[in-house]
Amino acid sequence: MVSFRTSLRRGFDRVERCLDLAFGTDWNPLAHLGSIGWFLFWVVVVTGVYLFIFFDTGVSAAYDSVRRLSTVHWWHAGLSRTLHRYASDLMVVVMFTHLIREFAMERYHGPRWFSWVTGVPIIWFVYLSGITGYWLIWDKLAQYVAITTTELVDTLGFLGQPIARNFLSPDMLSNRFFTLMVFLHIAIPLILLMLMWIHTQRITEARTHPPKGLAFIIIVALVTASLVIPAPMQAAADLRTVPQSINIDWLLLGLYPLVEMVPSGVIWGGIAAFTLLLIGMPWIPANSGDRPAEVFLEHCNGCERCVQDCPYEAITLEPRSDGAHFRFEVAVNSRKCVACGICMGACPSSSPFRRKGDLITGIDLPDYSLAKLHDRIIEVSESPSAQVGSSRVLTLACSHGAGGQPAVARVEVPCVAMVPPSMVDFIISRGLADGVCLVGCAARECHNRLGKKWTMLRLAQQRDPYLRARIPRERVLTVWAGPTEENYLESEIDAFAARLNEMPGYENVRQMVRKDIAKASNFVSSERGKK
Ligand code: HEM
Ligand code: SF4
Ligand code: SF4
Repeated sequence: MVSFRTSLRRGFDRVERCLDLAFGTDWNPLAHLGSIGWFLFWVVVVTGVYLFIFFDTGVSAAYDSVRRLSTVHWWHAGLSRTLHRYASDLMVVVMFTHLIREFAMERYHGPRWFSWVTGVPIIWFVYLSGITGYWLIWDKLAQYVAITTTELVDTLGFLGQPIARNFLSPDMLSNRFFTLMVFLHIAIPLILLMLMWIHTQRITEARTHPPKGLAFIIIVALVTASLVIPAPMQAAADLRTVPQSINIDWLLLGLYPLVEMVPSGVIWGGIAAFTLLLIGMPWIPANSGDRPAEVFLEHCNGCERCVQDCPYEAITLEPRSDGAHFRFEVAVNSRKCVACGICMGACPSSSPFRRKGDLITGIDLPDYSLAKLHDRIIEVSESPSAQVGSSRVLTLACSHGAGGQPAVARVEVPCVAMVPPSMVDFIISRGLADGVCLVGCAARECHNRLGKKWTMLRLAQQRDPYLRARIPRERVLTVWAGPTEENYLESEIDAFAARLNEMPGYENVRQMVRKDIAKASNFVSSERGKK
């Protein structure tokens, strides 16, 4: 399973790199599948509401109203109908691609189970919304879908009276039953909306709107496709005859031919097995996982930075409980924490400029603590591999991005934003390397959602904690590289090493730092003197 997933991940990365070239990294559709799903949902809602203005809910009038809106009003209502259908179809494609991609990126284990498991009912509600929509046109396809669906539901035997009997003859199908079908087609998408809302509840700043440019491209593509190939309509339903040849929509109704061929028990068993397999996946194989972040109150001043930076809403602000003079403290919800370490990178106490024994911060990872990161950096900086050409480069790399060459001095971290900016300062000002290379996942999307964004803002001094101005930015390189971009990463590091070689020695920087520290201690002693 692991190697299958790794191959899938690398496959996605390759395709995404091609799409990067076509759309740019910010608009890469594969990095926005969740938000595209939301966008398509709203396209379906808006076009559906518009269609309803022209739709007649009576059994005999429904077909005529759809025919009229598709012919007489083709340029607005007919276009809406095709858009409604194509957006629903695209939603199925987007949903399954999103599912497979989350699987490939292993974003379903541990505390991420919530988003995964809440995604499963979404699949069925997308299908139910589509299936009930096909009934309403009341053409031959609608007749086929209505009869096949109700016969299948009747095999469960929990509805008392079989509902398929409503379709035995024209006089048995009442306007009331038809109105119930319309009601279902409105109620089911409303439940779907609620499920989609629940689905994103454990995600900070969930992306539910694609970038405007990407949304525009999708709408233009959908409108163009709708104008070129308008949604077809088949002959009117006739309950006295059995539909012989019908064109089905393979995306939403692809399983229907199977329903006729296979016993209903097998169909229901298949649906149940598929659902249970998906629901159980976060626990197969049993996930030991890294332990959640831990708070050390004696080093926490309740500044709230970790709360704001956590991508999974796993940290809450609580009233202070230890009698310290701060208003707040923080608490980690272990069921939500994915151990990405971003909070550790955000904490002002995560400073390596202390004696080794004191390297405890406000919020830390038990399995990859600040002290361990510090020790790994020292160890790697002393290894011969830190020498790239005639410069010394230390690479701090996210474990979800490009793998490094064994020859490069590399410290792997769960997320690049786990590295506090003061650690970069420490490496350069202490002369552990001439330059620091921070490597994250591909630019289009961070595995931990916000790691790239926070890293860039911290380096640009736009978000606390930021990299101090005394560190020359040309000595810090950021590279965003997906799992299949090892060569690109290597060439970036080589070019960086060559540039570092041209720069004045880092001794200058260290002198500046010494002056800074001297200034700071003079300031502290003069403040003490005032008291
Ligand atoms: C049309 C249906 C769906 C929509 C509209 C949708 C939407 C979204 C959105 C907006 C996000 C947040 C993305 C972000 O901000 O990073 C998300 C995350 C996620 N979705 Fe879906 N989703 C759908 C179906 C599914 C399905 C069927 C599954 C799997 C069974 C699934 C699994 C996940 C997972 C695991 C995440 C969390 C990723 C993480 O931890 O970073 N989704 N989805
Ligand atoms: S490690 Fe920190 S930032 Fe990451 S999920 Fe856990 S609490 Fe949130
Ligand atoms: S960032 Fe550090 S100091 Fe600030 S609230 Fe979180 S743990 Fe406390």
